[in-house]
Amino acid sequence: MNVLCVASECAPFVKTGGLADVVGALPKALAPLEVSTRVLLPAYPALAEQAAQGTEVWRADNLQGGSARLLACEADGLDLLLLDAPHLYDRPGNIYLGADGQDWPDNAQRYAALSLVAAEVAMGALDGWQPDVVHAHDWQAGLVPAYLHQADQPTPPCVMTIHNIAFQGLFDAALMTSLGLSSALYTSEGMEYFGRIGFLKAGLAFADKITTVSPTYARELLQPEFGMGLEGLLRARQSDVTGILNGIDVDAWDPEQDSALPAPYSVKRLKPKAQSRAAVLKRFGLSEEASGPLFCVISRLTTQKGLDLLLEVLPTLVARGATLAVLGSGDKTLEAGFVGAAHAYPGSVGVIIGYDEPLSHLMQGGSDAILVPSRFEPCGLTQLYGLRYGTVPVVARTGGLADTVIDANEAARAAKCGTGVQFAPVTAAALEQAIHRTCDLYAQPADWAGMMRRAMRHPVGWDTSAAAYKDIYAGVLSADRERS
Ligand code: ADP
Ligand code: GLC
Repeated sequence: MNVLCVASECAPFVKTGGLADVVGALPKALAPLEVSTRVLLPAYPALAEQAAQGTEVWRADNLQGGSARLLACEADGLDLLLLDAPHLYDRPGNIYLGADGQDWPDNAQRYAALSLVAAEVAMGALDGWQPDVVHAHDWQAGLVPAYLHQADQPTPPCVMTIHNIAFQGLFDAALMTSLGLSSALYTSEGMEYFGRIGFLKAGLAFADKITTVSPTYARELLQPEFGMGLEGLLRARQSDVTGILNGIDVDAWDPEQDSALPAPYSVKRLKPKAQSRAAVLKRFGLSEEASGPLFCVISRLTTQKGLDLLLEVLPTLVARGATLAVLGSGDKTLEAGFVGAAHAYPGSVGVIIGYDEPLSHLMQGGSDAILVPSRFEPCGLTQLYGLRYGTVPVVARTGGLADTVIDANEAARAAKCGTGVQFAPVTAAALEQAIHRTCDLYAQPADWAGMMRRAMRHPVGWDTSAAAYKDIYAGVLSADRERS
């Protein structure tokens, strides 16, 4: 089966969050299941090297105001189709934002172009290759099902995955014509969203099936607190919505062969983890004398991630003799809050503002616990990396966090099955209790080591979920064949 995967990010080339990790890992997990995936991405500057080696397989004189071509290449085990359109994608810095921190003013055109070209490829624009199924990810690829829906020829079925419903791609409705969208799609059941056009909404309205990245988030999305205005549409399409848990790339994230760690370790040989711990303490200027656990945070600093709550409870964390290493960037108030905390608690709180992939590996390797107090979390990957590295996840009970971490409550401790700590509701008081519980568990070294080992043995790879995606693809394909 041939699948065209359409997305705006893909690890290890270009990444702002977990979407990239999923797009980079899923094709590799599907390959042994005889699903062959080509990944269509914008040829951002970060992909210049790959693009330079690519073969031109398609071109257009005018794609949203400039010429464009598709370059096919293989890189890092992935079969890439890079959309080279310099007027849209050849820009420095963050892929979505200008130097002023605001969205690029032409993001509608940039991602409509990506979706339009995906639809062309889906309908047979390439010599000798056509997908059986199209898989579109998040709002940036949300128009793919819309362009396919309005085509006047047979089109392959399309699966739309929601990684985060908070990002919907909302734009001025006056753009419909210039984006080549039929006005017939602009209805409340279609892509109209409170007088604007919604790229993600278009995807959800016109895709054959909808998936999201955990079973709990799939249920949460049907509620107004989580559905962000799209809960009605999703409820109407409930039988087409499936939650499939993300996996992680267990080769890229493996404490036994991670070049970012000073010494490899494994579930059978945990001791060398101490060398990574020492390296993290040093890098963040933290005290080696502290008796409590070393917590870490590796995150976008946004309201979603609940890190304002962590700032509130830092006095407790410090009073318990714990230390905290924070790596992240985003909201300026949160950045300033953590920088201020590092000054207020020297030796106990260390902060690095920025994005640093190797450092994120070292922190997973060297920390005792990873904090993820998200208000909502479609899946979350850092707690999965934590499990894999024996870095106990301390998480809010929401979305994929609820589905991947087994709370070490009394019953779980008696049954020896806990892998971390969960808390609810997502409040500072509940987070504070979770920190107390974690410190109490850490103070029992044998229990703690047992929990680390169970965490490391917890399956976090793609096997089950890749098979679930294959089933979804096979389902839309056979429904499509029955229709025609
Ligand atoms: P989201 O996609 O909502 O940001 P996820 O947990 O799914 O959340 O994925 C976040 C990904 O980005 C993980 O791979 C995490 O390690 C990485 N990440 C987040 N912030 C940073 C940072 N400052 N430096 C390095 N990696 C980061
Ligand atoms: C989104 C979500 C995150 C999820 C990631 C990959 O960015 O916020 O929870 O893990 O996508 O699916």
